[in-house]
Amino acid sequence: MNEKLLEEVITMTADSLSVSNSYHFRVPPTTLVGDGISVKIGEYLEGLECHKVLIVTDRQIVQLGLMNGALRSLRRHKIDFTVFDEVLPDPTNTIVRRGVEALNSCCCDGVLAFGGGSVIDAGKAIAVFANNPLPAREVIKNNTKLSPRGKLIAVPTTAGTGSEVTDIAVITDEDNHIKVPHQHQLFIPDMAIIDPLLTLGIPPAITAATGMDVLTHAVESYMAKGVCTLGQALSYSAIQLVATYLPLAVGNGKDQYARRKMAEASYMAGMSFSNAGLGLCHAIAHQVGARYKIPHGVANALLLPEVMRFNMLVRLDSLREIARAFNLRVEHLDGKEAALKAIEAVRELTAAIGLPTRLEQVGARTSDFAALAAQAMDDPTLQTNPRQVCQADVIEVLQRSF
Ligand SMILES: [Fe+2]
Repeated sequence: MNEKLLEEVITMTADSLSVSNSYHFRVPPTTLVGDGISVKIGEYLEGLECHKVLIVTDRQIVQLGLMNGALRSLRRHKIDFTVFDEVLPDPTNTIVRRGVEALNSCCCDGVLAFGGGSVIDAGKAIAVFANNPLPAREVIKNNTKLSPRGKLIAVPTTAGTGSEVTDIAVITDEDNHIKVPHQHQLFIPDMAIIDPLLTLGIPPAITAATGMDVLTHAVESYMAKGVCTLGQALSYSAIQLVATYLPLAVGNGKDQYARRKMAEASYMAGMSFSNAGLGLCHAIAHQVGARYKIPHGVANALLLPEVMRFNMLVRLDSLREIARAFNLRVEHLDGKEAALKAIEAVRELTAAIGLPTRLEQVGARTSDFAALAAQAMDDPTLQTNPRQVCQADVIEVLQRSF
């Protein structure tokens, strides 16, 4: 016990104390998990005192009928709703503006975002920017002063982005052709409803890609600069779940238990990275995904092993733990050998679920690497990478992944 510190705590006023080693850990106040739980949504919205909601979604979700049970429940509980189904992948400022108009014209007191990552990002932005000016290029940050929003509920229909739990909403500024990653605690939903049954119909290739996004969130947040004990526990468990259940969910999409475990893994990894941050893999994957039009999770899977290798210099112990989370016996190995086992496990999992393992396979060109690296250096996720990065390092990771 540091006696001087204890004395300070006892005698000093709160404002004059210098608090070290502290962190904030923010998650949605309520999380509901259950097979089929979305059909009871009316009851939960009633509990939140929501009387009229704008349902933000996309046309595919409506056509597939994934919301039918939830809509019946809303009617049963006499909760009015208006459906806004105009969200497209990579939602733009224009879509958010239209959503805000819909929210205002129907006098809704809350937003229910029902869909994949793009839908939930759009729903979060509509809820927040209904009461705040929608910025053009400017990025909303945690210290930006914002007016409060109405109620916000998220129901994910994929297991991947973790958007239902994070404080981030990525909105594309179509005038300047950039994705703007807004980050603020107001983007954290009041309630996340995880119904794994909604993910049963997702085809194997998408299950594989979104699952590797979950793994990358878990691995990057486990090693991130902002890592804390709470986040590491969640990331570690998420890695264990992905290692065991992603192959099962890809191999048999109707495996309800595997789907549930992947939905939980996605949520846990989301809680962790929303607080600890990500790293170099996402910084490069954002550029590679945009340039070669490949799914975000595939871009992550292609780059993650070499990013882990790059970070080995400062995160040997973490990589040993990651190998253990993959259920590998590494006690008898030295630090570097154990770390290489973790990297190999990621490569093997990627290949086993049928995803490409080399950038060359997705049409990448080495002549693009300098430009991709320059863009990656500006990506905000780079700020929490545990090892300092320069442009030459990014090019080397790209070349080694080629
Ligand atoms: Fe991601």
